[in-house]
Amino acid sequence: MRIVLTEGSQATPVPLSFFEEIAAAAACLEEVAEPVLLALTLTDDVGIRAINKQWRHLDASTDVLSFPAVVFSPQETAGLEQASFPADAWDSDEGAYFLGDIVISLPAAFSQAEEYGHGMARELAYLFVHGVMHLMGYDHQNPEDKKQMRDMEEKTLAKAAVAGNDDQALIKIAWEAREYAYTPYSRYKVGAALRSKNGQVYTGCNIENAAFGLTNCAERTALFKAISVGDTEFDAIAITADATAPWPCGACRQALSEFVPGIRVLISWNEGKENAESTLDQLLPHSFLGYKEDGQ
Ligand code: THU
Repeated sequence: MRIVLTEGSQATPVPLSFFEEIAAAAACLEEVAEPVLLALTLTDDVGIRAINKQWRHLDASTDVLSFPAVVFSPQETAGLEQASFPADAWDSDEGAYFLGDIVISLPAAFSQAEEYGHGMARELAYLFVHGVMHLMGYDHQNPEDKKQMRDMEEKTLAKAAVAGNDDQALIKIAWEAREYAYTPYSRYKVGAALRSKNGQVYTGCNIENAAFGLTNCAERTALFKAISVGDTEFDAIAITADATAPWPCGACRQALSEFVPGIRVLISWNEGKENAESTLDQLLPHSFLGYKEDGQ
């Protein structure tokens, strides 16, 4: 799903890919069969209050607003695969159907993040996924609908791998990532989950090749995914394997140290029965810095 930041929007404090991953997870779970897009406005309390007043005649600020552009029937909301998108929702510039607008107040997100103690990214993820669900036809008028909407929000955040600051959740994601390991030669499957400071998780698995030297370790798969979308600050990596403790190999320690010398390294093996934790500083003292003078 494409996301367009509106002209009136403030800059996003997390990479746009953070929102795109969540929207993509929602579109996948809802089986959206057509190209779709949404508009996102990040604003302040005054901004969201003005929008609330203009469009909903409510002179009050809030944390999130959503304005669906397409009305889906209840049957369609259960799975948008069969949904009929009206012709006037087609945006020919973007080549996608316009689902609607989401507006988020950044100061409201910030104070709620403080209140719940789970960080700005997790709060933004909650507010955004709530807006996305509204655009897809969910609502919370009665308790039954509300529960259905909440369930879908949680499923979407789990699929988008937004793990907040919960280490157990990160390890679980690394176990899931391991399922995709391509290991016809060693049969040693490794999973990795690298969490950036904004709460986004990048998964990786080892990918082998008939030309053995081309094999890519799980940790570097995850690291390169993150770097290649502009996310460069990390807080922890979880690594999972089967028989032996999957401490990262020397090459992966060096690759990680380029970006995060002090990152926490969590490992889990033997079906999760054994676990250990260290830091990259401990695993790779005196790493090679090349021309980097201050190691930053
Ligand atoms: N492997 C990793 O994925 N990460 C490491 O840190 C060490 C090794 C993979 C590479 C290869 O596919 C398999 O484990 C056996 O060496």
